[in-house]
Amino acid sequence: TQAVYILAIETSCDETAVAVVKDGSEVLSNIISSQIETHRAFGGVVPEVASRKHVEVITLIIEEAMAAAGIQPHQLAAIAVTQGPGLVGALLVGVVAAKSLALAWGKPLIGTHHIAGHIYANRLVAELKYPCMTLVVSGGHTELVHMEQEGKFRIIGRTRDDAVGEAYDKVARALGFPYPGGPHVDRLAREASEAVTLPRAWLEPDSYDFSFSGLKSAVLNVVNQSKMKGLTPDVAAIARGFQESVVEVLVEKAIRAVRSTGAKQLLLCGGVAANGGLRAALMARCKLEGIELIIPPPIYCTDNAAMIGAAAYVKWTHDGGTPLDMVADPGFSL
Ligand code: KG4
Ligand code: ZN
Repeated sequence: TQAVYILAIETSCDETAVAVVKDGSEVLSNIISSQIETHRAFGGVVPEVASRKHVEVITLIIEEAMAAAGIQPHQLAAIAVTQGPGLVGALLVGVVAAKSLALAWGKPLIGTHHIAGHIYANRLVAELKYPCMTLVVSGGHTELVHMEQEGKFRIIGRTRDDAVGEAYDKVARALGFPYPGGPHVDRLAREASEAVTLPRAWLEPDSYDFSFSGLKSAVLNVVNQSKMKGLTPDVAAIARGFQESVVEVLVEKAIRAVRSTGAKQLLLCGGVAANGGLRAALMARCKLEGIELIIPPPIYCTDNAAMIGAAAYVKWTHDGGTPLDMVADPGFSL
């Protein structure tokens, strides 16, 4: 059979990313232009600025990805793009670029879901066995997704307030670290010799949902109380206490979800999957329980277009292309 080369574009937030992926599993190029430096001054992603930055670099990044892959337009099977969810103005830049290329090169378009992308990042590193369970942990999402078969998603648990990455970023900010703070909290937590005891939000006994806003408030209280006493907060102990609470709840619920659905594999994905504490705890627990665990390398965990190429391939093989009149959809559902 003929190789399927897909050019994939991802612009849902603050990374302009383009990749060429073969058969939804082999990455030929994966170019990521990050806007983090630009947004840092504002303490978070500014949507209007993000769109403008995407416009500035998108053409260049597409050329770079095609050149790095050594692929000519006529060899491509399709053009894939993140259709949603995300910032509408940011998504729009990728969608317009993808439609233009699809028209100019006479190729089908594949509108792809950002979270399907995060999930199928796992396809870049392992062969998936169904049914499987995915723990999605990113800046915008915290979900347990059950997949009975390829391309079918059922969300069995989700956050009721903040996403994990969002909680990490807010806690990091309270501890004095720049955006995005997740990696700083992660490093501090692992270096700390002590941990502040913080609450765990288990919710109802049978619930797979999550909640992180109470934990975030508890951290802010600890920080404020030390400041009121004229003390410097022990940021390392707070970071470790926060990370222990987050990791314990994520691991317990993910393992229970695997057990109750008979999943053959547990997949981890999203930006927070780069977290050292979470990776180590999940690995140890899965080994103990005899559960097969897959975690992509950090470069495929945070936003990238290779993952969109992988998810688009799956969508393409089951459903074919997406009409050219599709629109960027910030509320796109799985
Ligand atoms: O998936 P992603 O790149 O973008 C979204 O789709 O949201 O995730 C970004 C999030 C940010 O909140 C960032 O702080 C967090 O992932 N993150 C981490 C780590 N690396 C990135 N959080 C905790 N520990 C890390 N090592
Ligand atoms: Zn993402």
